[in-house]
Amino acid sequence: MAYTARLTKAVFPVAGLGTRFLPATKASPKEMLPVVDKPLIQYAVEEAYSAGIRHMIFVTGRAKRAIEDHFDTAYELENELETAGKQALLELVRSVQPDDMDCSYVRQPRSLGLGHAVLCAEHLVGDEPFAVLLADDLMVGPLGGKPVLAQMAQVFARERCSLLAVQEVPLEHVRRYGIVAGDMLGNGLMDVRRMVEKPRPEEAPSRLGVAGRYILTPGVFAQIRNQPRGAGGEIQLTDGIAGLLSQERVLAFPYAGKRYDCGSKQGFLEATVELALQHPEVGTAFRSYLQTLKL
Ligand code: G1P
Repeated sequence: MAYTARLTKAVFPVAGLGTRFLPATKASPKEMLPVVDKPLIQYAVEEAYSAGIRHMIFVTGRAKRAIEDHFDTAYELENELETAGKQALLELVRSVQPDDMDCSYVRQPRSLGLGHAVLCAEHLVGDEPFAVLLADDLMVGPLGGKPVLAQMAQVFARERCSLLAVQEVPLEHVRRYGIVAGDMLGNGLMDVRRMVEKPRPEEAPSRLGVAGRYILTPGVFAQIRNQPRGAGGEIQLTDGIAGLLSQERVLAFPYAGKRYDCGSKQGFLEATVELALQHPEVGTAFRSYLQTLKL
């Protein structure tokens, strides 16, 4: 089946409990944790927007109201800023939800896994290719270059098949990732032949781990619906994609840029320090401050 070149929809699975960040995430969504001055979910939404996507689909759960409010109009706040003549702040607040961006929300009623979360969005996605962004993975494109999903959208426009963002990971970390193996093509892409979720190091088919950015064809929904539970007893997205391999081409794309695993405290802190250093408002002062620390 030939798909159109343009992606219009992105799915953000945001129903996860965020247990690694308790107690911060007891009553607040982990996706609302800020890195410097923006919540994690906003980085992911901006990345999708800059890849040309205008319909954002959030797969949410209980205690995730703050995400819907964040991407909605904040009348009282906007009125106050307007009355106070704080134009710059007003524009900042309004820029979170550009006029040409639509948001839809669907609930994942039970924590059955990432594949199940994506399946919950099927009726909103319909029969077209779509992106999946895991907000825990904060992706920063290369300096002066395109954000990671925009890089992928460009490859998709040419290849018109499922694409997985991959990076090489240390052998002792393969059990944290979906791992792919296959045939290297001349153009830097890999034709994926195998895909396993969180293998033990001795069973890993390679050290290429999937980062939280996917472009998928709608064929993945049928795969997810019909597959047994996988690693950790969950309905895994990785298994759905693995099921596609016998029917469709799936490519792995070694993206340019850096991934911060903001699902872990270490990754979150690294993102905070590095993005603060680059921040136009606080970067210079923060650098001077760090230099005074006796480490
Ligand atoms: C999920 C996916 C995994 C992928 C990872 C990227 O795992 O299941 O295949 O490599 O995201 O961050 P999680 O980190 O949610 O356990």
